[in-house]
Amino acid sequence: MTVASKEQIEQRLTQGVLGQWYVVGKSVQLQPGKPHGVKALGRHLVLWRDEAGKLQCLEDYCPHRGARLSRGEVHDGLIACRYHGVTLDGTGTVLRVPAMPGCALEGRRAVDAYEVQESNDAIFVYFPSAEQPKAPPLALPAEFSDPNWSSFLCMGKWDCSYLFVYDNFADPMHACYLHADSFTLAFGAKQDVMKLEERDDGFYIAKVGQQDVNLDWTHMVMDGSQVYCRLDIPYPPAMGPGGPFRIIGYATPIDDNSCMAFFWRLRQVGDTARESWRFLYRATQEPRHWFVLEQDREMLSNIPSDAHKREMLYQHDVGVSRMRRTMMRQAKAQIEAEETAGVRAAV
Ligand code: FES
Ligand SMILES: [Fe+2]
Repeated sequence: MTVASKEQIEQRLTQGVLGQWYVVGKSVQLQPGKPHGVKALGRHLVLWRDEAGKLQCLEDYCPHRGARLSRGEVHDGLIACRYHGVTLDGTGTVLRVPAMPGCALEGRRAVDAYEVQESNDAIFVYFPSAEQPKAPPLALPAEFSDPNWSSFLCMGKWDCSYLFVYDNFADPMHACYLHADSFTLAFGAKQDVMKLEERDDGFYIAKVGQQDVNLDWTHMVMDGSQVYCRLDIPYPPAMGPGGPFRIIGYATPIDDNSCMAFFWRLRQVGDTARESWRFLYRATQEPRHWFVLEQDREMLSNIPSDAHKREMLYQHDVGVSRMRRTMMRQAKAQIEAEETAGVRAAV
């Protein structure tokens, strides 16, 4: 069996581990009748809604001469290239060559299709690996389907590797320093020891000496099909109903040095409290949250992309290390599966 080299593993980690679901956009970006182009994991994709409103996703490449399908049009739920009208369905099959009916291109499956799922205002796309070409079920955060939780999704493009965003998720200790001047993250001890607990779907990293005072824990979900974080920011009663402010965060590589960051901002508010919180959030809380996110974005986008080569981790980075180990294992396994498949194909 071929063994993946260190360089191959690092390259895969930088570009994006495959065999995972990633968030590629917000539902509102996909208007009926309009194609939407997005770049993720270094690939150009086009998304559109078919006649039933269901999302379709292909590589953003016309099989005729390579024009971007996202510059095209949606007709009868199909995507038509703007250049010469070649029309494909959601499986990547050419259905019509209008300039030359009966052309041999018709009926050919010519571009890659991606599995896509829409939930809680977001669009998830599966990036297959040789090991796992079919998308595994996507176990979304339980809060998404729980009527006792209400959420807002925000999204940003950050000029840093998505790996830095993951590192940031797995590092609760940064909050009382980086966000010390924010409204809610100024409190509590500035020293502690971190503990790591394994969970069925990932791990939990928490401060030993303090709970529910600042950002004191993160639940990192790495269930083999996706990576996301869950964390709570304690809120004072003046911030309205719903207890702590919960964040569910995902990150998606665009390319080696930029990514999309997605944050659901949630509170546990049932029927009666829901509307008052949603109003309060929009009116007074949202700018505060953007202020904190900007601190993260600004800090991460100024860390050199090769900082991992000379970083000096200490005990608090036990979550970062744990997360990286899992990702390296996943990257290694999928590269080796590709090489084995390649060798078999060549024999
Ligand atoms: S390049 Fe798309 S139809 Fe010609
Ligand atoms: Fe932060």
